[in-house]
Amino acid sequence: MTSGQFVSKCTADAMARAAQTLQAGHLVAFPTETVYGLGADATNASAVARIYEAKGRPADHPLIVHVGDMQDIADWSDDIPDYAIALARNFWPGPMTLILKRSALAQDFITGGQDTVGLRVPNHVIALALLSEFKKLGGKGVAAPSANRFGHVSPTTAQAVSDELSQYLAPEDVLLEGGPSLVGVESTIIDCTTESPKILRPGAITEEMIEAVTGIDISYDATEIRVSGSLENHYSPNAQVVLDIAPENGDGFIALASTPTPDGVIRLSSPQSNEDFARVLYTSLRSADEQSLSRVVVHQPSGDDISVAIRDRLLRASRGR
Ligand code: TXA
Ligand code: MG
Repeated sequence: MTSGQFVSKCTADAMARAAQTLQAGHLVAFPTETVYGLGADATNASAVARIYEAKGRPADHPLIVHVGDMQDIADWSDDIPDYAIALARNFWPGPMTLILKRSALAQDFITGGQDTVGLRVPNHVIALALLSEFKKLGGKGVAAPSANRFGHVSPTTAQAVSDELSQYLAPEDVLLEGGPSLVGVESTIIDCTTESPKILRPGAITEEMIEAVTGIDISYDATEIRVSGSLENHYSPNAQVVLDIAPENGDGFIALASTPTPDGVIRLSSPQSNEDFARVLYTSLRSADEQSLSRVVVHQPSGDDISVAIRDRLLRASRGR
């Protein structure tokens, strides 16, 4: 690390200090079950501006506000439909972000000028401890995008955050080490500002799960572009990503364990299931870059489960930077 304080022991004391770091307007990178986030006090404009700087991200892209408890969303929205409450009850803490009409607390520097705000209760013991300590100091929520440079692959380990961002962090900023993220792809984003919920970004909470809990039929249109993660140049390693062709000599290769590795091909991972595929995908893409491979071939998993999210990210990764 050239800068930024790498905290590996997440003791109660370290959590309290990390919360003070947020309150003082500095950044705290922290683990969640989906990917690592780069956090700032969501009510502090200059702290939030530093997130955009560190990421190299355009300032009109809205950020997700992370809170420790579903009750806390009442601070951020005064208009929460019943189906959104049902979703929150069933899937929080968890890999789901709800888009709601914003309250006055959610200012333009969080929402990118939109009249809505994204909210999530993450399911990770360190993230929840950080949010709880921050609340004790009067904090309302932590704005956090994925802790990668704009357009890159999201980080699922503290080491990946350090590789991405250490040169852009200040000595006062903190990186909390919390092991590898268990889900591995970003949260499902659900627009809850209309009569029925609408998936803006697929994730571990699937269309079927949303329908089961809300009793509302929804349809997810994978081609509709709604959020910044949906821009073409996203989730991309330096290596070229090519989907569903036969890998050639010297190619990196990612496929379910049941698919054999042809001679001369560099196997990057052999996940046993679709859940496992999601968990290892981003580390596998990163390892292609670490090995300076020029091309990665991925055989996409099929199904209606988390594989929908995997195919969404791979499609965008395959379009390159
Ligand atoms: O799993 C996750 O969601 C991770 C972890 C750290 O929580 N966060 C994450 O944040 O993926 P980010 O900023 O990389 O992606 C958030 C996406 C962006 O594409 C943003 O445009 C969209 O959420 N978003 C945030 N607020 C929104 C809003 N009010 N309306 C529409 N989209 C919104
Ligand atoms: Mg991101």
